[in-house]
Amino acid sequence: MSDNQIVINDLSKVYDNGFDALKKINLNVKQGEILAMLGPNGAGKTTLISIICGMSPPHLALLLLMALI
Ligand SMILES: Nc1ncnc2c1ncn2[C@@H]1O[C@H](COP(=O)(O)OP(=O)(O)OP(=O)(O)O)[C@@H](O)[C@H]1O
Ligand SMILES: [Mg+2]
Repeated sequence: MSDNQIVINDLSKVYDNGFDALKKINLNVKQGEILAMLGPNGAGKTTLISIICGMSPPHLALLLLMALI
């Protein structure tokens, strides 16, 4: 089994008003790894976390949540 706990491939998010908030995000988080997300206002941090937590639907995404620990 892979030690990747969160695998995100080409994740994009288009809001209902047509705004492209995320464009083809790729991210692997391994077991025991601590990830900090940094970025300016409007970079898409909250959008990405909301999708990972299942609070917002992704577009054109392959999102595998193998475990959140
Ligand atoms: N419901 C929405 N409809 C349309 N656009 C949105 C919506 N929510 C966020 N956006 C836009 O998507 C982009 C990313 O927003 P997001 O809130 O994810 O950024 P952020 O990195 O968390 O910003 P901040 O540092 O200010 O918290 C911004 O341009 C924002 O205006
Ligand atoms: Mg935010």
